[in-house]
Amino acid sequence: MKDQINSIGILTSGGDAPGMNAVIRAVVKAAISNNIKVKGILKGYNGLLNGEMINLENHSVSDIIQRGGTILYTDRCEEFKTDEGQKRGAKICRDNGIDYLVVIGGDGSFCGAKKLSELGIKIIAIPATIDLDIACTEYTIGFDTAVNTAMEAIDRIKDTSTSHERCSVVEVMGRNAGYIALWCGIANGAEDIFIPGIRNTNEEKLIENIKKNRKNGKKHYIIINAEGIGGSEELAKRISKATGMEARATILGHLQRGGSPTAKDRFMGTLMGSYAVDLIINGKSNRVVAVKNGALVDYDIVEALNMSKSIDEYQYHVYKILSN
Ligand code: ADP
Ligand code: F6P
Repeated sequence: MKDQINSIGILTSGGDAPGMNAVIRAVVKAAISNNIKVKGILKGYNGLLNGEMINLENHSVSDIIQRGGTILYTDRCEEFKTDEGQKRGAKICRDNGIDYLVVIGGDGSFCGAKKLSELGIKIIAIPATIDLDIACTEYTIGFDTAVNTAMEAIDRIKDTSTSHERCSVVEVMGRNAGYIALWCGIANGAEDIFIPGIRNTNEEKLIENIKKNRKNGKKHYIIINAEGIGGSEELAKRISKATGMEARATILGHLQRGGSPTAKDRFMGTLMGSYAVDLIINGKSNRVVAVKNGALVDYDIVEALNMSKSIDEYQYHVYKILSN
């Protein structure tokens, strides 16, 4: 099967995620060891539409496994959401001898990949987003690094918050997903978390709890607010006014997306990248690499995009029990 492959393209798309470089490195090295050429497409679908490509060799991916971000750069591209943009993208792949395209990114990037697959480009998609919000997989590259970065930042905020006997509202990333917020809620021992989709968020109860805990001598109160809920500054002001406890908001923002990937993101990125090349040399296409019950698996891209997932009820239950 591999003799028929001209070359494979690889791109990173959407928000970057620590560990993307480990995936790129694994794809390039595994492909080259199977005598397959690799073309790196720069800046996601935007770069594809502009024909921005470089040949990737073993030396191109040396000394990158420990680096955050993506050596291929990334972008968002409105034009690629149109039929015309997708047709142009597929033609550019064909004109450049790209038989397979490896797309590293989140759900949005996978939607674009699915469109290309419908236009005859063979696709392998690898989940990489700090949000952990891709339904078909238990793991997405970048989550481990991001959640550890957020956890460490919240520990620091908690120190100063305690010294000053303040309440802290910490806003973590996650677009419409609450995974970073839930994990930090548990890992930081937060007093409260606000997560999209969880309807029992109750500000009145939160205020009552702060007042009660103040009376009992509690010196800090950490609230983790998911980006999808937002309004952290306003929430902090309302808490100060209603409780008399000084409340401050910190929006962690992009610091959660940068930094050297953890061992888990390097390890999983490397395995997922190698697995993608195994799929290619075995003649499989239009597949999403995923983790199920801790093992690597692959799904048809249409099936994968039709799946849904939500916050694990037991994990939320554990946080609730321990947060009081
Ligand atoms: P992520 O991949 O992290 O979810 P986005 O949702 O921003 O990030 O999507 C990244 C890019 O994928 C978009 O800028 C666009 O180019 C492409 N994309 C997203 N949704 C679609 C879609 N429905 N059809 C085609 N391309 C899409
Ligand atoms: O999808 C990853 C992510 O970091 C989300 O958590 C966040 O909502 C979004 O990207 C931010 O994107 P940008 O860097 O374009 O503001």
